[in-house]
Amino acid sequence: MRASTVPLRRCPCDTRPVLADVERILFHEQTILSRLDELAAAITEKYRGKELTVLAVLNGSLIFAADLLRRLPLPLKLDCISVSSYHGGTKSSGTVTFDQVSMPDIDGRHVLILDDILDSGRTLHAICARLNNESKPLDVQLCVLLRKRKLREKELEAHFVGFDIGDEFVIGYGLDYQERYRNLPFIGVLRSGIFQAEA
Ligand code: IMP
Ligand code: MG
Repeated sequence: MRASTVPLRRCPCDTRPVLADVERILFHEQTILSRLDELAAAITEKYRGKELTVLAVLNGSLIFAADLLRRLPLPLKLDCISVSSYHGGTKSSGTVTFDQVSMPDIDGRHVLILDDILDSGRTLHAICARLNNESKPLDVQLCVLLRKRKLREKELEAHFVGFDIGDEFVIGYGLDYQERYRNLPFIGVLRSGIFQAEA
């Protein structure tokens, strides 16, 4: 069969075994993708004609970045950085650990950082500080899929935001709890019984 004649079919993955761990669904896949269309239009408008580097923060932004980037008709460069601040729990450990020794080359470029969620603000604050200390970007802006409504330890302005949510622990569409649930196609609240043990 020629590639163009392969019928489009939805992935038959069965998410039932982990659905029991989801207290309630906040955003279905189609809602997320529709919002990405709007975000992509705003980002395209902002960076048209500019030298843009998108910096995706792994692992959480992996699926968000993949879906958003394919909606951007811009000649951008993509780099990824990997950091961790949770170290397995549902509360930030307070220390942000960078997995790479050096930062990508962003001198003289507009930088858009993509992350899954703005929670305490520590991670994105640490990334911005390191980028600005080690390089000379033209500017650095933030794009997050989710932003928790709460008093943040580091007050940061996210220039592009997918959805504002309450201060709850969420999973799916790239977001994890102990590295699980990232492959759920929707975003949901993790059932409290799953992490009660750590409190
Ligand atoms: P912050 O430094 O507290 O803003 O948190 C940043 C990182 O913590 C995010 O990139 C996520 O990886 C993780 N995180 C924060 N809140 C949640 C959540 O509700 N679910 C899953 N991961 C989260
Ligand atoms: Mg993360």
